[in-house]
Amino acid sequence: MAGKIFLNGKWVDRADAVISVFDHGLLYGDGVFEGIRSYGGRIFRLAGHIERLYDSARAIRLTIPYDPAALSGHVKASVRENALKDAYIRLVVTRGVGDLGLDPDKCPTPSVFIIAGTIALYPREYYEKGLDIVTVPTRRNVPEALNGRIKSLNYLNNILAKIEGKLAGCVEALMLTDSGFVCECTGDNIFGIRHGRLFTPPTYLGALKGITRDVVMGLAGSRGLKVEEVPFTRHELFTAEEVFLTGTAAEIVPVTKIDGRPIGSGAPGVHTRGLMAEFEKLVHREGEDAYAV
Ligand SMILES: Cc1ncc(COP(=O)(O)O)c(C=O)c1O
Repeated sequence: MAGKIFLNGKWVDRADAVISVFDHGLLYGDGVFEGIRSYGGRIFRLAGHIERLYDSARAIRLTIPYDPAALSGHVKASVRENALKDAYIRLVVTRGVGDLGLDPDKCPTPSVFIIAGTIALYPREYYEKGLDIVTVPTRRNVPEALNGRIKSLNYLNNILAKIEGKLAGCVEALMLTDSGFVCECTGDNIFGIRHGRLFTPPTYLGALKGITRDVVMGLAGSRGLKVEEVPFTRHELFTAEEVFLTGTAAEIVPVTKIDGRPIGSGAPGVHTRGLMAEFEKLVHREGEDAYAV
């Protein structure tokens, strides 16, 4: 991938986009990030991603060395610098360079980088037939230890679950809370539909407050679905009429089998397909134009 990467205020070539081995983002996963998309040169829900990044940073007492407007400007510029229309943008803020101890106060300057590239889309088949997912033994972090609301660089919990999902032959895996409630997938939020209710786990259980999750909850009313954020177990998914996942990269992807149980009819349901179509329209209608400067 050619193009320019934003690194601490400079636009550098990929080969020059390097971070110190003493950066606490690398040594300890001490940092925060966002995965953002642009469609046709328009950045979808940029303000929401920026707000979540600053919230994550505030929660770990990390001061981002730009104000939100300036950082949004750099995100837009990353799309332009790489002459992209449909892009996946990774925005990262690390604690910066320190010594080998944990102390974040020994890291005076956070590192900020933005990588914009083309997006590797899931195969069409996943959207047409739906995903087959499994519940993995690795439980989602308890929020009292590491709150899932913080989109931190510390993704080992999710990676362990991803490994277990892949070993079971699945591209996504369902993670439960320590007490056995449905939480989320390794990189996606989860929803079920039954009897006109659209239900998803509350974020206090440890799930990320997904941007796509918020969008879907906003679209539900137009389909006559009542949104409920409630704790539930796998049973509610096994007996749901429809299940789907949401995420910036995946968008809305139907789930048609969980732990060997076909969901509903075993094919993507009418509401899921309707929401996918609404979402598709929305991403092309909304968004901040990266090229309007
Ligand atoms: C653990 C986790 N849950 C959910 C999501 C979906 O969030 P969003 O819709 O903001 O991409 C992500 C995506 O980054 C994630 O990593």
